[in-house]
Amino acid sequence: MANKVAAVTGSNKGIGYATVAELCRRGVTTVYLCSRDVGRGKAAVENLKKEGFNPLFHQLDITDKGSVRAFAAHLKGKHGGLDILINNAAEITTEFIKTTYNDARKVIDTNYNSAFIIQEYLYPILKDNARVINISSDCGHISNLNNKYWIERLTKNDVKVEDVNAFVDWFLDSVRNETLKVEDFKEPFFLPYRISKIALCALTRIQQREIGRGISINSLHPGFVQTDMTKTVVPEYLVELMKQNPKLTEHLGRVPLEKSGEAPAYLALDVDQSVKGRYFWHDKTEKDWADPNLDVLAKSEDFKKVMKNSGIEIPNLQPIY
Ligand SMILES: NC(=O)c1ccc[n+]([C@@H]2O[C@H](COP(=O)([O-])OP(=O)(O)OC[C@H]3O[C@@H](n4cnc5c(N)ncnc54)[C@H](OP(=O)(O)O)[C@@H]3O)[C@@H](O)[C@H]2O)c1
Repeated sequence: MANKVAAVTGSNKGIGYATVAELCRRGVTTVYLCSRDVGRGKAAVENLKKEGFNPLFHQLDITDKGSVRAFAAHLKGKHGGLDILINNAAEITTEFIKTTYNDARKVIDTNYNSAFIIQEYLYPILKDNARVINISSDCGHISNLNNKYWIERLTKNDVKVEDVNAFVDWFLDSVRNETLKVEDFKEPFFLPYRISKIALCALTRIQQREIGRGISINSLHPGFVQTDMTKTVVPEYLVELMKQNPKLTEHLGRVPLEKSGEAPAYLALDVDQSVKGRYFWHDKTEKDWADPNLDVLAKSEDFKKVMKNSGIEIPNLQPIY
């Protein structure tokens, strides 16, 4: 892994942290652990040092232009650029069912709009044949949508940034105006997160078309990993119960936290350089992102079955706007 320089956004914990550890384990010479909070980031670096790894630290808030610009200048000055960029930092809605405008705005800013800041400042310093991995989700697959108009507009071969932005605006406007239709979505929970990740996958394909210089940009569903993020949306007791339902386990694709860096590292180091603009699954297989009929999502029906079998009261799962 001679002289490769890698950076993982939002890597003070969770999948990002595991990815930094995996890149170090795989022998990448220079790996940046990035965190918006200096204290949390430096503590994470110290933990990895105890495991025998030696990542570097840099502050990075992906929603803050100044922060991203400063990191880009640092990378350019110190290393001449960047070989591997793993866009991992993200957040989820604060509530499972309820969708509010402010929450939606915040999640979409962090998970989707930040990609334009990264594109503006970090893409120009990517070295030839660099690799970018956008960490998406199963929630980012097109099959999350039922709305035929948006499925067609987002999956057309010449999709443009304006199409994706229009999709995001359509969603935000309908939340603000309370005109959102549940029928437009397969699973109507944490919708802003789903919208942000669908938009990120669509943008991945556009960015790939435009970037050139041999650079690859792929997106990845890292699997269901128990982290602070999933604790927000899937309570611990349900995670245990999920083991009772093979379909749910298969669809969720449970990945142990300490192994969750393997798929990002595969795309960063192993997959052929010709693989570009694709969507990958945690088991390192490619899935057709644009196929609306692909049966890959964990369904609330299966969650309900598991709860019913265990005598747990099923909450009202009707979305509230
Ligand atoms: N866990 C899963 O099952 C799962 C499934 C599918 C997809 N994913 C995706 O995998 C990625 C990692 O998720 P995770 O489960 O590891 O989540 P996590 O444990 O909540 O970690 C998220 C990381 O992102 C950082 N972050 C959030 N907003 C940021 C910002 N504005 N600037 C910089 N860093 C920011 C957080 O920093 P702080 O510590 O400062 O908050 C944290 O380091 C995300 O893209 C997520 O959507 C996860």
